Amino acid sequence: MKIELVPSILASNFAQLGADANLAIEGGGSVLHVDVMDGHFVPNLTIGPPVVKSLRKVIKVPLDCHLMIENPDQFIPEFAEAGADWISVHQEVCKNLDRTLHLISSHGCKPGVVINPATPVETLTEVLDLVHHVLVMSVNPGFGGQKFIPNSLNKIAALARMRAERKLEYRIEVDGGIDMTTVADVVKAGAELLVAGNAVFGKGDIRANAAQLLDTARAATLIRT
Ligand code: DX5
Ligand code: ZN
Repeated sequence: MKIELVPSILASNFAQLGADANLAIEGGGSVLHVDVMDGHFVPNLTIGPPVVKSLRKVIKVPLDCHLMIENPDQFIPEFAEAGADWISVHQEVCKNLDRTLHLISSHGCKPGVVINPATPVETLTEVLDLVHHVLVMSVNPGFGGQKFIPNSLNKIAALARMRAERKLEYRIEVDGGIDMTTVADVVKAGAELLVAGNAVFGKGDIRANAAQLLDTARAATLIRT
């Protein structure tokens, strides 16, 4: 299992987005998480394809676009064109989830599916063979800086079990409330792509925050039970 830190730019200073993101990458971030919100599916607005296009020019690592929007099919081509590498969509909004995941692949991006805290992992059984990653939301989507929901650990563990039973290869990502107090638990449950916003960009030295979080995550794999 390759543990990767996925800094979420939502908590960064947007006036110096490229520079801040690169500090997080220097600290060990190996994928950059981009939160796209539409004010409908979630009660917040963030960014769209033009920002992805600008980031693409200055960021070397894969861009992981988390679409918290009601009509992802409409925007997938634009995000792909802008330079997204991974695109994930919420199970809760996709009427034709299989089609949407194929749409992402057909645009040359790695498809991911996301579930909210109240959505059971069992809703994904028919698409687990299609996805590059499954993103378990460990807070309700819409805002950074919220408190980690502990039941997410059971969902991560269930996804790890299902992957082993079915000999699949999807990666397990977790997003929301990941910090020095929760990161070891999610790694021990089986998460390997660790999204973190406030813990990286919130305060202090961005590079050092990223490095410390990644070190703690990697150390947790050694004490895995
Ligand atoms: C929340 C977003 C997260 C957010 C996480 O809807 O999907 O990616 O940036 O922020 P923290 O790490 O501060 O909980
Ligand atoms: Zn996110």
